[in-house]
Amino acid sequence: MIPESFIQELLNRVDVVDLIDGYVPLKKAGANFAACCPFHNEKSPSFTVSPTKQFYHCFGCGAHGTAIGFLMEYSGLGFIDAIKELAHRAGLQVPEDEGRRAHDGPKTAALTDLMARAAKYYYEQLKRSEKAITYLKERGVSGEIAQKFGIGYAPDGWQNLGAAFDDYTISELQVAGLVIKNEQGRLYDRFRDRVMFPIMNQKGEVIAFGGRVLGAGEPKYLNSPETPLFEKGRELFGLPQARAALRDKDAAVVVEGYMDVVALAQHGVGNAVATLGTATTATHVQKLLRQVDRIVYCFDGDSAGRKAAWRALENSLEALPEQKSIGFVFLPEADDPDSYVRREGTEAFERMIAQATPLSEFLLRELASHCDMTSAEGRARLVAEAKPLLGRLQTPLLRLQLVKRLAEASGFSQAEVERLCDLRPVVRPAPARAPRQAPSLLRPLLRLLLQKPELAGQVPLAALPANSAEARAARHLCETIMATGGPTPGYAALLERLRGSEDEGILREAAAELMQQPFAEEDIDSEFEGAVQRLVEGENKRAFAVLQEKVYKLGVAGLSGEEKQAYLQALNARGRPD
Ligand code: UTP
Ligand code: MN
Repeated sequence: MIPESFIQELLNRVDVVDLIDGYVPLKKAGANFAACCPFHNEKSPSFTVSPTKQFYHCFGCGAHGTAIGFLMEYSGLGFIDAIKELAHRAGLQVPEDEGRRAHDGPKTAALTDLMARAAKYYYEQLKRSEKAITYLKERGVSGEIAQKFGIGYAPDGWQNLGAAFDDYTISELQVAGLVIKNEQGRLYDRFRDRVMFPIMNQKGEVIAFGGRVLGAGEPKYLNSPETPLFEKGRELFGLPQARAALRDKDAAVVVEGYMDVVALAQHGVGNAVATLGTATTATHVQKLLRQVDRIVYCFDGDSAGRKAAWRALENSLEALPEQKSIGFVFLPEADDPDSYVRREGTEAFERMIAQATPLSEFLLRELASHCDMTSAEGRARLVAEAKPLLGRLQTPLLRLQLVKRLAEASGFSQAEVERLCDLRPVVRPAPARAPRQAPSLLRPLLRLLLQKPELAGQVPLAALPANSAEARAARHLCETIMATGGPTPGYAALLERLRGSEDEGILREAAAELMQQPFAEEDIDSEFEGAVQRLVEGENKRAFAVLQEKVYKLGVAGLSGEEKQAYLQALNARGRPD
């Protein structure tokens, strides 16, 4: 956990205009700055950055957020990494709590340095190794692509890294997985006589290596062990190299092997990344879907590849938001993406990617393949096997699609499938009976609070309706503002504080609306009074409606003394009903 106060300090220190200008050159436009939006294709600039609000907003595609949000969107960094990156720029030290420090160690920076130095050493050794160069050439890798991926060579020999480091015996080299200590206490290089593929994090820092034997030999690939820098299930080979292509194509191709990524890049398919000899995890999927709207899995054409695809499907289900899509490509039996693109060419490969099998179809086909679809039992089994998978899906729309297809395939009705799978019907909850506060009344209140958080203390929280998301967001916002000791947090800091909460979406929308149409300073207080008054009136009306209903059902005698008084008062206030 990073303390809130730090996030606030960070956002105070960093200027979102400077930050974004470093990625997307901004032009002054009135009080704001503008550029063509980096998040969608456009010819005239609708991307606006506000120096006073420390917030960006695109009027074209709706992208918006704070400096932290920008880094997350633009660089595909996670929240924590975005904060670290910003802190680094601002020269601030990110405070971390004790538990994490013990695990992470203050040494990760030092380890990163070691890895960078090792990568440089291997890279230079490649130039001196005729046989490694020949090996790569024979596999169709150009010098340019080798450079792009930082491919290197670990020479044969036991302690070559001694030449790259002043002190070969420091324990960090073992922690980094570069050097191994045997039982006699002798130290030796982990990687010997191998072509080296550096694995980088999203920032492009080397965090691990995969080393391939030049010919035949076991193991074919030797990988770094997991270290404080490297957790296999989180990382993807080729991610930093793919960034521009991921953005251009808005899609990622996930393959299994280092060489698949390299060969695809060599053939102009720049948006490929590889899992590292492990199954695709939900973390992988989340990481990619932050940068692109579509993932296509393209695994080897053998049975292991099919299994990997199925695992990827299972782990994608829960990470899959609405609007994002997943496809599967099944290569011919003996192929992997490397051999396929080399033989068939870029166009054929891209065509296959474009025609990928949709997730729902793969899921159904795979389940149906081991159910006897000609018998009623078999079809029931199909539905039973789909049940746990459907349960993982977080999105009603996708679930509905799958239920429909399951119904078609099984001959059950849609309702029967839902019942068999214990799914509550995918419909929005019926509107509550009490009259709802129109959202349009609460939206201005949210905007007012964001623009002038000091007003939070004056909101009559009891008057906020119980059954509206806007009201809940307003309450949350007020409580957050008031819980802050010291100066009232700014707009951007508030939004960051609410990141990840249920109310984040609504508040970000309100913030974006505010960007488009801020209140004039001199109007804020009267606007606020008006909003509060409407809120109180709305609450009174609602309370009255509840009493009225009781009276219709039970007569005035059914009311408690207090209720009776309130009822009569309200009647008087509004004039008697006829
Ligand atoms: P493959 O055996 O499909 O390798 O393993 P590949 O990429 O096609 O290798 P080439 O073309 O023969 O060079 C796929 C991935 O599985 C992991 C590696 O990440 C590899 O890229 N792997 C494979 C290992 O970690 N160790 C191994 O011994 C083999
Ligand atoms: Mn291969």
